[in-house]
Amino acid sequence: MNSTKTLKFLEEGDFAQNFPEVVSFLLKDHEAMRDLMDKVNSSRLVPSVIFKHFKNLEALVKSHMAAEEAALVNPLKHHPKFKDEALESYEEHRIHEHIFFGIRKLKAKDRKLAQMKIYCEMLEHHLKEEEHDLFPQYKAYFARSSKRKAGKKFIRVRLKTAKPKSRIGALGR
Ligand SMILES: [Fe+2]
Ligand SMILES: [Fe+2]
Repeated sequence: MNSTKTLKFLEEGDFAQNFPEVVSFLLKDHEAMRDLMDKVNSSRLVPSVIFKHFKNLEALVKSHMAAEEAALVNPLKHHPKFKDEALESYEEHRIHEHIFFGIRKLKAKDRKLAQMKIYCEMLEHHLKEEEHDLFPQYKAYFARSSKRKAGKKFIRVRLKTAKPKSRIGALGR
């Protein structure tokens, strides 16, 4: 779904019946991250191109984390069943920010490249953990209407925080 269509959904106010549930958006973003990670890990691409893909990955991860926290993680932080998973996701997001900051500061290209690839391994681990633990439990526990409401919140924050290159995944076609 493109962002214009998504906005139309939001404006029409019929999302209670038609708007997708939040997990489907989360998974679309995760998929877009994996496409970018493949490029960062590619042995055929030159460093300058890899740096560009990593920059796009960073923008996508940051927009995704902001939306994921607003729609899912923060509301679950005090929920007896979900608080451990939610707090773990939240703190992991903070670590991702530290790593991005550290990589940006690095001057030596080879070290930058090495750390970008290591970061992708950590990100993959984070995505898998959410997909295997948090998302299935969330999907099974909450009513469709709350999951759709969370989907709407997710898209709102994604649209607000997305750079032009991070209008992919949940905001893509
Ligand atoms: Fe996350
Ligand atoms: Fe996520």
